[in-house]
Amino acid sequence: MHWWRRGLCTNYRKIKLILTEEQELVRKSAREFASKHLDPGAIKRDDNAEFPHQEVKMMGDLGYMGIMVPEEWDGAGMDTICYSLIIEEISRIDASAGVIVSVNNSLVCQIFVNYGNDYQKEAFLKGLATGDLLGAFSLSEPQSGSDASNMKTVAEKDGSHYILNGTKNWVTNGVNSDLVIVMAVTDQSKGYKGISAFIVPKNLDGILLGKKEDKLGIRSSDTCEIHFDNCRVPIENLISQEGEGYRIALNTLDGGRIGISSQALGIAQAALDKSRSYAKERKQFGSAIVDFGAIKDKISSMGTNIEASRLLIHNAAKLKDMHKPFTKEAAMAKSFSSQTAMDAATDCVQIFGGYGYMQDYGVERLMRDAKITQIYEGTTEIQNMIIARELLED
Ligand code: CAA
Repeated sequence: MHWWRRGLCTNYRKIKLILTEEQELVRKSAREFASKHLDPGAIKRDDNAEFPHQEVKMMGDLGYMGIMVPEEWDGAGMDTICYSLIIEEISRIDASAGVIVSVNNSLVCQIFVNYGNDYQKEAFLKGLATGDLLGAFSLSEPQSGSDASNMKTVAEKDGSHYILNGTKNWVTNGVNSDLVIVMAVTDQSKGYKGISAFIVPKNLDGILLGKKEDKLGIRSSDTCEIHFDNCRVPIENLISQEGEGYRIALNTLDGGRIGISSQALGIAQAALDKSRSYAKERKQFGSAIVDFGAIKDKISSMGTNIEASRLLIHNAAKLKDMHKPFTKEAAMAKSFSSQTAMDAATDCVQIFGGYGYMQDYGVERLMRDAKITQIYEGTTEIQNMIIARELLED
């Protein structure tokens, strides 16, 4: 094992958290899994934009694909802090695997847990929770990203089916998923109150996958456009009721933002771990570069922002588990932790200097992977708008 990778393992004791014994165990086993099974192929998978099929299967066996799903639906029945810890540890090694797991858990399984009926849970949730099925979530469209309710995809009722027409884009897991949660307009006269949510198995006729996107980062997770052309979706695949889709999407995204914050945190933690190992070993002007104040400043601000991110994320997770409002807290966690990831990864490349710019060290990958955490599941600008709205309301 290379010495800069070894640094990842020895630094474990430096993370001091107030966790229960169970949460501590979950964290430890996720760390061991990621080091043993995700680390070896991560750089190659990223390079080849190769989906981690085998690794996703293993994560399914460990319960990581249905972390918060109750055991009665074949999930792991863990809390949201455990979910965050697992996503952090996976993303610390492989942020692409982090988003695959995060989307399946918080944007797909959670919709079934919170809004699905028994038939839908039996037919889909059990498979999603065990990793036998992979899920995707589609809200964005070419003309509507942040302005999510301005969607054009329509679902017209026709007897026992809805006929779906339109295009969704930026769909994470879009290529490899078995089913997609699709938000579509069922009543154009009602604005966002006319949006509904559907379970759309990918084997239905009338589904055409657009090209797989060639991305800057998280390259081994797949992202694509999906076109619906008179796709007939059985009426029993409507989630909750007509008109509930937008509320379901936004409520679900609150939880998703805890997942993406945890992914960002994992990237930032990896940047700190690699930076401290390298700075202690690398000698310039006759001493280790960690002895220079400029490097110490970078390490200390990385560490402080990482701890602040972790506290914000765990606070949002705890509120969610207590069934208290957590929209603002999840937005704060995402806004702050994604900036932390970007800053930490950039500083890490700077500390490594020329070596950091080269692919072999896995440091430039952190910088490329960090950027998306400021964009998907609501941009930083949208998170800050949500925070300001709540702080300013009377
Ligand atoms: N939870 C539940 N309901 C909510 C909510 C929340 N967090 N936020 C708002 N709502 C409800 C409101 O109560 C309101 O309903 P009522 O009238 O019945 O009260 C309704 O939704 C509309 O609310 P707003 O007027 O506040 O909505 P808005 O249109 O102004 O939008 C927004 C608010 C925050 C900008 C929202 O559109 C948003 O979050 N945009 C970003 C979308 C996003 O994150 N997209 C990412 C897609 S997924 C992805 O990235 C790809 C992937 O695969 C990972």
